[in-house]
Amino acid sequence: MRKLLPLITSSKAGKAGKAGSHPGGRSALTCRFRCGDACFHEVPNTSDNEYVGDVISGAVSRRSIVRAAAVVTAATAAGTGAVLAQGENAVAAPPVGRGKEHGMRSARGLRFGPVAPNTADRVTVPEGYGQNVVIRWGDPILRGAPEFDPDHQTAKAQAGQFGYNNDFLSLLPLEREHGRQLLVSNHEYTDEVLMFKDYDADNPTREQVEIAWAAHGLGVVVVEGERRTGELTAVPRHRLNRRITATTEFRVQGPAAGSDFLKTSADPTGTKVLGTLNNCSGGTTPWGTTLHGEENVDQYFANGTRATDKRYGLKPGATERKWERFDKRFDVAQEPNEPHRFGYVVELDPYDPESTPVKHTAIGRFKHEGASIALTPDGRPVAYSGDDSRFEYFYKFVSSKRMRRGTSRADREHNMTLLDEGTLYVAKLTGDSPAAEFDGSGKLPADGEFDGSGTWIPLATATADGAESHIEGMSAEEVFVFTRLAADKAGATKMDRPEDIEPSPRTGKVYLALTNNVERGLDGKAPADEANPRKVNKHGSVLELTEQGGNAAATKFGWLLFLVAGDPEDPATYFGGFPKDQVSPISCPDNVAFDSYGNLWISTDGNELGSHDGLFGVATVGRYRGQLKQFLTMPIGAETCGPLVQDRRVLVSVQHPGEVDGASVEKPASTWPDGPGTLVRPSVVSVWREDGADVGA
Ligand code: FEO
Ligand code: CA
Ligand code: CA
Repeated sequence: MRKLLPLITSSKAGKAGKAGSHPGGRSALTCRFRCGDACFHEVPNTSDNEYVGDVISGAVSRRSIVRAAAVVTAATAAGTGAVLAQGENAVAAPPVGRGKEHGMRSARGLRFGPVAPNTADRVTVPEGYGQNVVIRWGDPILRGAPEFDPDHQTAKAQAGQFGYNNDFLSLLPLEREHGRQLLVSNHEYTDEVLMFKDYDADNPTREQVEIAWAAHGLGVVVVEGERRTGELTAVPRHRLNRRITATTEFRVQGPAAGSDFLKTSADPTGTKVLGTLNNCSGGTTPWGTTLHGEENVDQYFANGTRATDKRYGLKPGATERKWERFDKRFDVAQEPNEPHRFGYVVELDPYDPESTPVKHTAIGRFKHEGASIALTPDGRPVAYSGDDSRFEYFYKFVSSKRMRRGTSRADREHNMTLLDEGTLYVAKLTGDSPAAEFDGSGKLPADGEFDGSGTWIPLATATADGAESHIEGMSAEEVFVFTRLAADKAGATKMDRPEDIEPSPRTGKVYLALTNNVERGLDGKAPADEANPRKVNKHGSVLELTEQGGNAAATKFGWLLFLVAGDPEDPATYFGGFPKDQVSPISCPDNVAFDSYGNLWISTDGNELGSHDGLFGVATVGRYRGQLKQFLTMPIGAETCGPLVQDRRVLVSVQHPGEVDGASVEKPASTWPDGPGTLVRPSVVSVWREDGADVGA
């Protein structure tokens, strides 16, 4: 049976600069600007807590790897187009699946001809689908903001324009404005060499640094839908439009608010922080606010030398962007507590442009990829959050307060405190197959599944009157500010980069993307185990977690690896038991989202298979469980972020397009989205069906 979606052969791949020696297929430029070259430094987690294989429950399950009794026969080979004109700025013929019959043999919501892997410098979508750029870096959104002029950019202009490197996206309803919604975005980081002509990394100017401050943070912009399609356009100068930057005031809430660890010379109260940084993914709360993870914040702070700095990835010496030269708070030697004020989950009320955004300390301080909310049966929110570094952990916070359903100001104010009182837990996983069955090859164990059970270990509890530590030798304040150290002591399970995590609104099962970990199983590092079964894990996996009794507040759970990513022809891959000759190849799952049918959508960050990053949909239940299909691919150098799947449209962040080794404003690797002669610009794209029907229906 012919595989539907051939990989790009290695001889054809790589010209776009993606498949290099950098972990997860990322370019050196990405490593430098996105996470401060984290992969080239010693992994910060050197704790010696046990791994999954140390504890064996003994029960060996006998499930078949092929769950679906009714195996779908392969359709005729999808029209994979040609693969493809290569090289800089090459635009390929549409590499789309043709067969309608193929597209129909999928779960509802996923009935489209899959896009083949490719390296075209554009967003490639299935046949019959259209797309538009909703908003780009630099587009004016606030009153008085000028049109984007890259040759005369200023910090003041940038503060009124859409930020750089949009990542997480949320769309919230605007009931009184027909056809309009509120788009909230993260602006994770800046790529100075792609933003400024003649950028001198050793000597950035104050204006360049202040532009970067204004290009970080969050954005709120009203968008309007076209009546007949899923096209979306921004509504500039709307009264709700807003920019939050690296200098906007935040209020600190929860158990570490006012802590000595958070006090600085500029803020002796330890409750007011300027700015949010490195906002990667996030979540939309059922009470109508947005959550945003502060992720690789270590890279902004110079001269980090303490043990706690090291555990958080801070390094001695200057930073890449040299912000410490322009504001001493970025110099740990001068302002030792400033880094303790970043690394939280932040919450924004996008409906109130005057509101002060909040940093929630009760969800702990680590490299939060994001945070996603489930509700307990009695209406309390549970926030799940991954700590995105190699060998780090994943967590959940269970609130002790109930959400109010009303939308009055008092209700909204109450709901903005839900994430301040409750218990923070870290996950410990146990495999159900003997440790000897995990040699790092990724071979399925005899029971046919990478699976087992788990415990949520309490770290600390915050109440209205104070906080209680559950970790011997650490105060509650220490647990909330130095959460990684508390989790080390608790014996949490070291995972392969826990990224986005999302509960299914249909089944309550929780899905966690584990992006990759090329150090798994190396000498001196944690070995392969049932939850992280591949040594030098280049392609990552997706874990499915089932809370005991279906209650998000449970302290016990079951888990299994739903996907073990890679080339389906690679025996060390697994697609929920679905026949592997009928799925798309995938590498480095990162962000996850659900559509209204309950299908899981996965975007990727890095690709070790030679293709550009992309977005994929997969059913998690029923006969098509595990049938992974690629919906779109990214332009050169870009990562797919912030997927949002509405019935009419799919929204994605095209993050860091053109971020390829050696690229600069003068030597662009990509000119997406506006074409030759224009600056490459991170943007939001909407994709819809040209015939006006719902996506994948
Ligand atoms: Fe910003 Fe975890 O990727
Ligand atoms: Ca097993
Ligand atoms: Ca991410």
